[in-house]
Amino acid sequence: MAAPRLQQFAAWYDAGPADGRPDWEEQSRLVLNGDPVAGRAVIDSHGCGTCHAIPGLPRANGSVGPSLAGLKDRSYIAGVLSNRPGELIDWLMDPPAFSPMTAMPDLGLTEAEARDAAAYLYAMDR
Ligand code: HEC
Repeated sequence: MAAPRLQQFAAWYDAGPADGRPDWEEQSRLVLNGDPVAGRAVIDSHGCGTCHAIPGLPRANGSVGPSLAGLKDRSYIAGVLSNRPGELIDWLMDPPAFSPMTAMPDLGLTEAEARDAAAYLYAMDR
């Protein structure tokens, strides 16, 4: 299902960094080529904060979905996908494709928008 490009990201991640500990901020910039600053704007303009509490976005205090604080430390995305850059991008582009009963809608993010949003989510301090 993932686009070839996303499979490349996932493969890179699977190979792992030399010391075995992912540096998420580095990855979000270098692996995903995502821009956290642009991602913050994507998250803001798509109303993610109406459903999620999101650090760094003052008006993002929704409680429909889980808080996204500390997302980078979770093992799974929505309990169905491994928490890796390629999978996070896939999730953000079309959540119901991976979890048909989920309350999170497909918000129509392009791959570039999802990549930037993922970069922001992985770059958050907490
Ligand atoms: C209508 C409410 C709603 C909106 C809008 C929404 N989400 Fe969600 N989101 C949810 C719900 C509910 C879940 C839990 C999904 C599940 O477990 O099936 C979720 C799950 C997630 C997860 C996985 C969290 C985890 O801990 O596993 C991420 C990441 C996420 N959303 C990011 C976003 C982003 C980024 C946006 C904006 C582009 C967004 N969401 C917009 C409701 C929403």
